Amino acid sequence: MFKEQLDHERIPSHVAVIMDGNGRWAKKHGKPRLEGHAQGAKAARGVVETAHKLGIKYITLYAFSLENWNRPEAEVCGLMSLLTSSIAREFNDLIKNNVRLLTIGDSSFLDENVRKEIDGVVNASAKNTGLTVVIALSYGSRNEILNASKKLLKKYEEKPFDISSLSEKDFADCLYTAQIPDPELLIRTSGEYRISNFLLWQISYSELYFTDTLWPDFSEEDFCKAIYDYQQRERRFGKTSEQILAE
Ligand code: IPE
Ligand code: IPE
Ligand code: MG
Repeated sequence: MFKEQLDHERIPSHVAVIMDGNGRWAKKHGKPRLEGHAQGAKAARGVVETAHKLGIKYITLYAFSLENWNRPEAEVCGLMSLLTSSIAREFNDLIKNNVRLLTIGDSSFLDENVRKEIDGVVNASAKNTGLTVVIALSYGSRNEILNASKKLLKKYEEKPFDISSLSEKDFADCLYTAQIPDPELLIRTSGEYRISNFLLWQISYSELYFTDTLWPDFSEEDFCKAIYDYQQRERRFGKTSEQILAE
């Protein structure tokens, strides 16, 4: 069991997850795609609980990408209502457990009622100091980076500044994730080896973990296995192994 083997001194503070494989799970079980998404929502709840137990500070869940708007309308509608209802239901308990909800993404694409429902939970949990659950909803990383550039240009227009003094932090402060540290670990399920426009800036030094498990099957033990795997790695940040060992 990986759960028992975890080093509790080296739990990552931020884990990001590309929750992929709901559709294939449904197909495998002879069910409609939306049933796969419903099971996926249950797996997400499980992972949030495990993150809370392990003392992880941030978990970012990729729930719906900008590209996902191109799916068939029935699937998009079904996903939106599932997302809204499961966030509202699950956060009833989670808020009491000091969990905070944040979202990242381009909310201008969202229906008014979806936005209102989610904003309600974000506001109600704003003062919580335990685990922060970040839902990436209508999210695309290139769009986020482009928006950050626009914000900076606007600032410049309003009040010109010394462009050569702009730092990486100044740029990061214009991203949706301004208040959120970079993830140490990124997990992608379902055997796909790609990033799909997720957190391109923020994962520049994250450890990547891929598993064939389809998202609805992703269990507490699978999550602990990913963290265990992360704990076996040496994060060198460009230095040599000898330097790291001497630190
Ligand atoms: C991930 O599962 C959920 C979303 C992208 C919303 P998919 O729906 O992409 O599942 P597959 O990739 O078709 O199996
Ligand atoms: C990535 O999954 C987005 C989410 C998990 C929300 P996709 O299934 O949309 O990614 P691609 O299309 O296979 O790259
Ligand atoms: Mg997919």
